[in-house]
Amino acid sequence: MNNFRNIWDIKNASKEKLTQHAFDYLVGGADDLRTFNRNIKAYQHFQIRPRRLIDVREVNTSIELFGKEYASPLYLSPVGFQGLFHPEGEIPSVKAAAAKNILSIASTVTSKSFSEICAAVNTPPWFQLYTTSDRTTTTRLLDQAQKNNCETIVLTIDVPVPGNREKHIGILTGNMRTENALGNFENGGADFDATLTWDFIPWFKKNYNMNLLLKGIMTAEDAAIALDHEVDGIIVSNHGGRQLESDLSTIEVLEEISKVVNGAIPIFIDGGIRRGTDIFKALALGATAVGIGRPYIYGLSTDGQTGVEKVLKILQTELVRNMQIAGVTSISKINRKCIREKKF
Ligand SMILES: Cc1cc2nc3c(=O)[nH]c(=O)nc-3n(C[C@H](O)[C@H](O)[C@H](O)COP(=O)(O)O)c2cc1C
Repeated sequence: MNNFRNIWDIKNASKEKLTQHAFDYLVGGADDLRTFNRNIKAYQHFQIRPRRLIDVREVNTSIELFGKEYASPLYLSPVGFQGLFHPEGEIPSVKAAAAKNILSIASTVTSKSFSEICAAVNTPPWFQLYTTSDRTTTTRLLDQAQKNNCETIVLTIDVPVPGNREKHIGILTGNMRTENALGNFENGGADFDATLTWDFIPWFKKNYNMNLLLKGIMTAEDAAIALDHEVDGIIVSNHGGRQLESDLSTIEVLEEISKVVNGAIPIFIDGGIRRGTDIFKALALGATAVGIGRPYIYGLSTDGQTGVEKVLKILQTELVRNMQIAGVTSISKINRKCIREKKF
């Protein structure tokens, strides 16, 4: 563990540890992986503008979300079926996040039930919701979240149908079951909801008193509609390049979205974050918090909770060092002036 210098080292260790099927499921994406790759590469088009001669001995990376303070803007994005990567499923990940005072979001399609996950930590994670066309299942999932004192629901809106993930074909049978009693999601995750529309939001608000975030916004237009519907936050995400091969990365669309949102609600982003500089750049372009998916699963599969904590430590250490060298002492001081964009 101590020999791991960066996320790439842990990815290599994870490849050694996992079966070919599980590793393929983890690293796979839609079609020819162009969007997946672009999520990572696009960060090179943004360059940090460092400021000098500032006392940077003390750096504060804490942020506040809905009245709660977290140690870092980094958070764990929802990743389903973690039982494929560790015998204890999601438990080590959620414990690692809690130990570091980092936000985590539990998927609908978890290997452990949401109640079991919540029992492992003091503060429940946020719950990511996949709806089904039948509202009874959706209601059951939301009731379970509410019963466990979950304060925030993250509605994933980019899976009307599953993306074309050609490497997953071998694994989408038998191996995957979710403990959240999800009807046809069991044994393969087949029942996605092509009927989901904006009408869901008033229905949710009428029936539930939890924050609602939309995960999967990729355009200014949809950010504006989300604002009209008074959601509590949005997540700029293309599902880690697993859904539409759109040839657009999340970091490239962040600025058009943050212009529309204009500070009204928090903006989260995930996809391609592999370095502290990536976190810094996303914050500079308007993100409030920055999520990772695959990187923490590399840690989980390599060494359980210790592995996830190592991933968080690496990225956090990189973020702090980058802030110091760029002359910035707190997250709120990272702004548009800290970054320039030059395509090459
Ligand atoms: C193996 C795997 C499973 C995922 N499962 C879910 C899920 O159940 N729900 C969801 O909203 N997003 C899911 N995602 C997407 C992540 O939440 C996140 O958007 C993405 O992984 C971020 O990109 P990154 O992996 O490059 O950090 C999954 C991603 C991966 C890699």
